[in-house]
Amino acid sequence: MIPLNQHPSGRHFLQIPGPSPVPDRILRAMSLPTIDHRGPEFAHLGKKVIAGLQQVFRTRHPVAIYPASGTGAWEAALANTMSPGDAVLMFETGHFATLWQKMARRLGLETEFLALPGVDAATGVPLAWRHGVQADLIGERLKQDSAHRIQAVCVVHNETSTGVTSDIRSVRRAIDAAGHPALLMVDTISGLACADYRHDEWGVDVTVSGSQKGLMLPPGISFNALSPKALERSKSARLPRAYWAWDEIVEMNAGGYWPYTPNTNLLYGLSESLDMLIEQGLPQVFARHARWAEGVRGAVRAWGLPIQCADEALNSPVLTGVITPQGVDADAIRKLIHDRFDLSLGTGLGKVKGRMFRIGHLGDCNDLTLMATLAGVEMGLRLAGVRLQGSGVAAAMDYFAATP
Ligand SMILES: Cc1ncc(COP(=O)(O)O)c(C=O)c1O
Repeated sequence: MIPLNQHPSGRHFLQIPGPSPVPDRILRAMSLPTIDHRGPEFAHLGKKVIAGLQQVFRTRHPVAIYPASGTGAWEAALANTMSPGDAVLMFETGHFATLWQKMARRLGLETEFLALPGVDAATGVPLAWRHGVQADLIGERLKQDSAHRIQAVCVVHNETSTGVTSDIRSVRRAIDAAGHPALLMVDTISGLACADYRHDEWGVDVTVSGSQKGLMLPPGISFNALSPKALERSKSARLPRAYWAWDEIVEMNAGGYWPYTPNTNLLYGLSESLDMLIEQGLPQVFARHARWAEGVRGAVRAWGLPIQCADEALNSPVLTGVITPQGVDADAIRKLIHDRFDLSLGTGLGKVKGRMFRIGHLGDCNDLTLMATLAGVEMGLRLAGVRLQGSGVAAAMDYFAATP
C-alpha cells in the first residue's frame, strides 16, 4: 500500500534554481491559439517582446531571441564574435563557467581558465566554487597580453551551481584599467530579472540569458544582448555560423519576425512575463528576491550548515547552496525529500556533486512556498540523521514575519 502522505495531491514544489515555477498568468497566456508567425499580428508581438527585453537587459541595442536553451545562446555569443584559434579568457566560478569553457574549446578556441586556487579546509570544496570572479586576476592577465591575443573575457554573473553572484562592473574596470580591447561577454542566464543587471552601463558586449529562470517561463528561449562593438566584431569573425548568425536574426527581429519558425506560444508567455516585471518595477523585483534569499539563508545558518557562497556581499538572490557535513551524501537527502515530500531541490553539479544541494528562490513563489520548502528540507535533514543546531523553519518564520 502507498503511504498516505505519498498519494499525489497538491502541486509539486519545484524549488530548483531553474526551470522555475511558472505563474498561472503566464501559463494562461501561453495557452492561446498559435498564430501565423509571418502574419501582421505576430510582428506586433515580436516588437513588443524585444522592447520589453531591452528594458530588462537595460540596453538600447539589439537583443537577439533564439528558440533554444541557454546553451544555444552561449554558442551564439562565441560563434558570432570569434575566429578559429582565437584566445578567450574565462573564469572558473563553478559548473556553468566550466561548461562554457568546454564549449569554447569544442568550437576551436584557445581558452585560458583562470581560477582562485586552493580548497576550503573546513568543507573540502574548491575555493573557486565558493567565491566570485576575481577581477584583479583578470586585470593582471590582460596586462601581460601586450600583443592583445585575447579576444574576449567571458564570465558568469550568477553562477547557478554555487549561488555566487559576481561583480560584473569590477571586470569591466579591470579590462579598461589594462587598456585591453577584449570583448566582455557575460552569462546571466539565471541572474536576469532576479539580480540587478545593466548591459549598457556595465559595458558588456554580449549578454547571454535564458527564459527558464527569472523570466519565469518554461525552458526554450534564450537571448544575446549586443553592443555596437560586438556587432562590429561579428562582421570580421570567421567561426562558421548559420542558425546563430546575428545579421539575419537581428534584421528580422527588428521587424518583429524571425528567419525561421519561432516558439510562438513561449513568446506569448514572454510578453506576459515582461508585463509582470515592468508592472512591478525591476527594483521591487530585485528587492523581493533579495528578501527571499535572506530568509532562506537565515534558515541555513540556524541549521548550522555552511552556505556555499563564502562571500557575504556576493550571496545570490536566486538560490542558496547548502553544503552537507563531510560524509553525508547530499543527493541521498535530495532523493529522500523528493520521495517523501514531493519537493525538488537542485543537485550538486561537477566538483560539488554529492557535497551540497541548492534551494531555488525564484519564479512563482512567495513567503509561504518558501516556508513549506524549508519545512521539507528540515524534515529531510532530520530524517537523514543530520545533526542540526536549531530550527531553520523557526528562524525563517521570524525573519519573514518581521520583514514586510
Ligand atoms: C548560469 C547558467 N549558464 C548556462 C546554463 C545552460 O543553460 P541551458 O540548460 O538552458 O542550456 C544554465 C542552466 O541552468 C545556467 O544556469
